[in-house]
Amino acid sequence: MNAPQTIDVWTLAHDQDAALVSACEKVLSAEEIARLYRFKPEHKRREFALSRAMLRGVLGEMLEARPVDLEFAYGNKGKPALGGKFVDASVSFNLSHSGGMTVLAVTRCEADLGVDIERLRADVDCIGLASRFFSSSESRELADIPASARPAAFFACWTRKEALVKSLGMGIVFGLAEFSVSMDPAESEARLASDHPALAGAWRIYSISPEPGYLAAVAVGDPGDHTIRQHDAAPLLRRAVGK
Ligand SMILES: CC(C)(COP(=O)(O)OP(=O)(O)OC[C@H]1O[C@@H](n2cnc3c(N)ncnc32)[C@H](O)[C@@H]1OP(=O)(O)O)[C@@H](O)C(=O)NCCC(=O)NCCS
Repeated sequence: MNAPQTIDVWTLAHDQDAALVSACEKVLSAEEIARLYRFKPEHKRREFALSRAMLRGVLGEMLEARPVDLEFAYGNKGKPALGGKFVDASVSFNLSHSGGMTVLAVTRCEADLGVDIERLRADVDCIGLASRFFSSSESRELADIPASARPAAFFACWTRKEALVKSLGMGIVFGLAEFSVSMDPAESEARLASDHPALAGAWRIYSISPEPGYLAAVAVGDPGDHTIRQHDAAPLLRRAVGK
């Protein structure tokens, strides 16, 4: 039997000190700096600077490269991957941010990997969003859940679905109603039901709790077993940007 593949999940809160945030720019490419300054709200600039520097820091340590030297390539729906002279490095990753928190999932192999994080909120129209985006069986299941437990079930389902479509590199253009996932937030691994040909191989969808008040999921297009390890990215980021 093969040993479980490790997936490392790095988490970073965005309320880092201003000196660290501004030092992040030192490791970004010219293209990333241009993108950074196109964001108008300060919190979006902070989110992008911290997330990109964290991505470069984590990958740099794995590949024994300087964070600033890493190069990225983008799929036709915008999914980033290693590019340039790192294109053959057998490392897969995906990143997500929501409500002041970033998660980055990374594994040392070629894999379709997707991650999504959402801040748990009670003020969302779960039923309305589910009828717009979820499969009909998911919408029915959600409507049967007591109202007080609905937001957690909704976000468990949402993060699992987003992680899956991000693993495919498609994002939501894939169609979130093309498949169904289980929505019990207590399950560490979700069940997937679909007859879509793109999902014919065995996919695994794991739920994780990165921080209280957030839900996240990691999807991987690999039927084997996986060990999920969670880490705080702040110390690594400080090392990466020299702060
Ligand atoms: C990818 C997508 C699901 C992201 O959803 P979101 O909840 O707003 O954002 P998240 O924080 O979870 O993820 C954003 C990150 O996912 C990654 N990403 C971007 N496009 C991606 C894709 N197609 N698949 C997987 N990951 C993607 C990036 O790292 C991005 O972070 P960055 O903007 O800091 O580089 C959504 O934007 C989408 O559906 N995109 C595809 C739409 C499309 O067809 N675009 C065509 C023009 S490129």
